[in-house]
Amino acid sequence: MKSSVWHPNTQMKEWESFDKITKGKGVWLIDSKGNKMIDAVASMWCNVWGHSNPQLITAITEQTKKLQHSSLFNLTNEPAEKLANTLVKISPKMHKVFYSDNGSSAMEIAIKMALQYWKNIGNKKKTEIATLENGYHGDTFGSMSVGYVPEFFGKFKRQLFSTIQFPVPNKYRIPNGFTVTDYQNHCLEKIENRFSKNNNIAAFVMESGAQVAGGVIIYPKGFQFKISQLCKKYDVLFVLDEIATGFGRLGSMTQYEEQKSIPDIVSYGKMLTGGYLTMAATLANKKIYDSFLGEFNDWTHLFHGHTYTGNPIAAAVANENLNMYKKSNLIKKIQKTSKVFDEFYEELSKMDIVGDIRYKGMLMGIELVENKKEKTPIHPRKSINKIFFEEGKKQGIYLRTLGNIVMLVPPLAITEKELRLLLQKTIKTIQSAKPKVV
Ligand SMILES: Cc1ncc(COP(=O)(O)O)c(C=O)c1O
Repeated sequence: MKSSVWHPNTQMKEWESFDKITKGKGVWLIDSKGNKMIDAVASMWCNVWGHSNPQLITAITEQTKKLQHSSLFNLTNEPAEKLANTLVKISPKMHKVFYSDNGSSAMEIAIKMALQYWKNIGNKKKTEIATLENGYHGDTFGSMSVGYVPEFFGKFKRQLFSTIQFPVPNKYRIPNGFTVTDYQNHCLEKIENRFSKNNNIAAFVMESGAQVAGGVIIYPKGFQFKISQLCKKYDVLFVLDEIATGFGRLGSMTQYEEQKSIPDIVSYGKMLTGGYLTMAATLANKKIYDSFLGEFNDWTHLFHGHTYTGNPIAAAVANENLNMYKKSNLIKKIQKTSKVFDEFYEELSKMDIVGDIRYKGMLMGIELVENKKEKTPIHPRKSINKIFFEEGKKQGIYLRTLGNIVMLVPPLAITEKELRLLLQKTIKTIQSAKPKVV
């Protein structure tokens, strides 16, 4: 049967058909022909416990018997209340939780909260948003504006709202004449110079711990902390996106705690429901929340809401997911399992098309280059994604590359044995893909 589906971020002309996934079990995806593939991207970075987890399935089915959906407009529901309490508990200094159903929306809400905060307290000057170059916060217009990746968003540049962007230190591509520390200081100086010149900046928005879609750029030590300090010094709201990096992806529950950089607003998504249903959350501290309180006719309340905000089934599975994090001490497990990446570093780095390997927690980015010395990114005629998808499938892994970067973002609870197998298969995939990309 002819498919009517238009696939995301895909040159449809390149693909004749797509494999139909009919089952998932643990870290494996199984297609309609019975082929098994390790889900190396955790189904777009969200799967935590693997597929078909009985506890999560029970949480969903039990909740569907009671209440499938009822809105948070004028009403509330028990799973959403319970989840908000838990999220506040695991998020130091956060006070209230605003629900949405995807990460892009969670970031739109964060931006609206930040901009409206200054209006609520009567400051008309602070209207600008500062960000880091190369950030990614989603595909809607607001989230594209704060996270400009030229290849993704260039076509819409005119329609995006303007932001003030600062460079980010990428240890692999530090400009000539700088050490990593010098360049980090240079980036921070740029921020401070701008902050001190004009106090019209409402918020600084950045991914927490690392830029993931922007190429697995793991910040040098102290970078995020120092930005948070500058925000404090110059009275700029600090807004963090933990959608891809929180909940254990980089090895800690919240990256902002690890980075000692407490935000005013933080967004979660992806792993929140264990990767089973669509839900995201934007958390605000008391200062932000209190500014929205007033008489009805003050019009200081937050003008935002979605049909499925606080969906009880999504909240129920998120509650069970977080319960499982605690019970199985998942964060400790990730810290231990992820040491497997070290075992493969040398072998990977010897490969002649591998320019750089960046990894932290349960995330690895392998940057492919044509010329190791020149660091020239690989740029074949066909998309690297398509080539690697096909070669990965032959080896039994589901891969989706990002530009010239092979992403390993497996389900967080992957075992050491499974992670070793994934890395062995990745090495074989790179070897077999090489003649097609250079
Ligand atoms: C850091 C970050 N923020 C926001 C988003 C957008 O989330 P969603 O795809 O759920 O809209 C993503 C998605 O990859 C992301 O990586």
